[in-house]
Amino acid sequence: MPAIAIVGAGPGMGLAIARTFGGRGFGVALIARSKDKLETLVAQLESEGITAAAFPADVLDRPALSAALDAARDHFGGLDVLEYSPAPHSPVPGLTMAVPSEVTVDNLQPQIEYTVYGALAAAHAVLPAMRQAGAGTLLFTTGGGSVHPIPMLGNVNAAAAALRNWVLNLHNELAGTGVHAAHVAINVWIGAGGPEGFPSAAPEQIAGLYWDLHERRDRSEVVFNG
Ligand SMILES: NC(=O)c1ccc[n+]([C@@H]2O[C@H](COP(=O)([O-])OP(=O)(O)OC[C@H]3O[C@@H](n4cnc5c(N)ncnc54)[C@H](OP(=O)(O)O)[C@@H]3O)[C@@H](O)[C@H]2O)c1
Repeated sequence: MPAIAIVGAGPGMGLAIARTFGGRGFGVALIARSKDKLETLVAQLESEGITAAAFPADVLDRPALSAALDAARDHFGGLDVLEYSPAPHSPVPGLTMAVPSEVTVDNLQPQIEYTVYGALAAAHAVLPAMRQAGAGTLLFTTGGGSVHPIPMLGNVNAAAAALRNWVLNLHNELAGTGVHAAHVAINVWIGAGGPEGFPSAAPEQIAGLYWDLHERRDRSEVVFNG
């Protein structure tokens, strides 16, 4: 069966993307730090008839992330799609927010490690096999601030913009190889409980975009504005 690895798989986009691909016959490899939370998601998906398995790893531990993706590839006999979207719902050591004038090496470096270097490590773990097969999809998620930055997220947005730039250029490089890379910028609050007046959307309203990018292979980016 084809398989997707979701790096940073939680109850929001992670679960919705898992359902979207799993419902179309994909096996789903879920990667995040908490084994217990992943096992809960696996049980949920399996109760819905989706084949899923958990591969715990921290994106800040790049060798562990690579090993988790290797294990996922062995488990499913290959990985057809990589999706990268960790979100720090529970604290990630070193991650803070800073307005642009207060961005420093100390508060930007962890964001780069989390958003950019983790994504690079994930891509490096799966891209050689995809290139060899002449097929595969690499999808990377950030917030809308990667495109339209807001002061509150000065360091977060800078790291996300770096990831976005790299993905768009990876897309250019991979043209004609059969491997498709694309960026998704989610410019809304996901789920309930967002700030007053800020647009929001349910993960299920967004997840279809990922399938469209994988299936149509005609765009390097989607900005979801609700
Ligand atoms: N939530 C929003 O309102 C919002 C808005 C715009 C854009 N986005 C973007 O949308 C994407 C999905 O967000 P979501 O909120 O729907 O996420 P989600 O799928 O509900 O959860 C993401 C998961 O990432 C995991 N994670 C966090 N730090 C990690 C680490 N160091 N290593 C490995 N896994 C880690 C967490 O699990 P563990 O704690 O077990 O590691 C968490 O459950 C993210 O790229 C986010 O930046 C979110």
